[in-house]
Amino acid sequence: MLTLGIESSAHTFGVGIADNGKILANEKAMYKIELSGMIPKKVAEHHVQNVQPVISAAISKAAITPKEIEGIGYTKGPGIGTCLQVGQIAAKTIARKLNIPIVPVNHGIGHIEIARINSGLSDPLVLYVSGGNSQILKLSKKPYPHYGVMGETFDIGIGNMLDTFARETKLNPAWGSTVEKLAKWGRYINMPYTVKGMDFSFTGILTHSIKAAKQNSIHDVCFSLQETAFSMLCEATERALLLTNSTEMCVCGGVAQNSRLKEMLESIAKEHKARLGFTDNQYNADNGAMIAFVAERMLKNGAKTSLDQCKIEQRYRIDQAKVY
Ligand code: FE2
Repeated sequence: MLTLGIESSAHTFGVGIADNGKILANEKAMYKIELSGMIPKKVAEHHVQNVQPVISAAISKAAITPKEIEGIGYTKGPGIGTCLQVGQIAAKTIARKLNIPIVPVNHGIGHIEIARINSGLSDPLVLYVSGGNSQILKLSKKPYPHYGVMGETFDIGIGNMLDTFARETKLNPAWGSTVEKLAKWGRYINMPYTVKGMDFSFTGILTHSIKAAKQNSIHDVCFSLQETAFSMLCEATERALLLTNSTEMCVCGGVAQNSRLKEMLESIAKEHKARLGFTDNQYNADNGAMIAFVAERMLKNGAKTSLDQCKIEQRYRIDQAKVY
């Protein structure tokens, strides 16, 4: 079922096209984040300007005509309201014009399902790590199929923490990926460590690291920040793995692009004879392909939403989203 998906929850305006689970196109335009961070109005303006060019690029990449599109999905949330609205309006306009079914998709479900299915896992313990989210999840059947939250951040997502550290210490570019590069030549210095059961907190280590960067080598701070924050995630994930007796683990979301985190999770998986699955980095970054991928599965499995029901929800929790 040829399905188009639109992602616009944060800095990326992405459009993907899927057909029978195969990704035919995954095009995007990314808002360039400056030291002031993301200003919602400016990001939404960027998305508005990119609606038409990115949709056209995806259609031409997939080598299809608009009339062949049989269904459409968009990110309902979580995300920045003004940005989500751009994708929602674009999707509703296309659905109305082509008279095709439309479904709202949870952003996190997009990341998880494309990673889970691409890596051939059936029922993994999931570590979902992105800018706004850091959660340990497991599929639960009751009262409806959904990803139940076993553990999560008490405050900010780990991606947001790394990006904020990069901005506050004026790294260029001000992204978590710069922290990963600089961490390669660092030595360990003490950092605060906060894990409670399967939950964790990142604001303490963020404040400490920003202060520490004034008196220590940036390489040492980046290295120690990564090692400590990832150890917190790993400790909580390992606890959840043992509690659920899982033999499969899956890591996804923007921070799953970090090779040090994957290396640490690999060692836990090996220790407990579990398999670690992850997907191509283009699907860990925000993208429209995962929305098309999940929307197609939803539509094929009977999800129905009228145009009037197609809303956005800035705080759309993953455990409120039905998995099809
Ligand atoms: Fe994301």
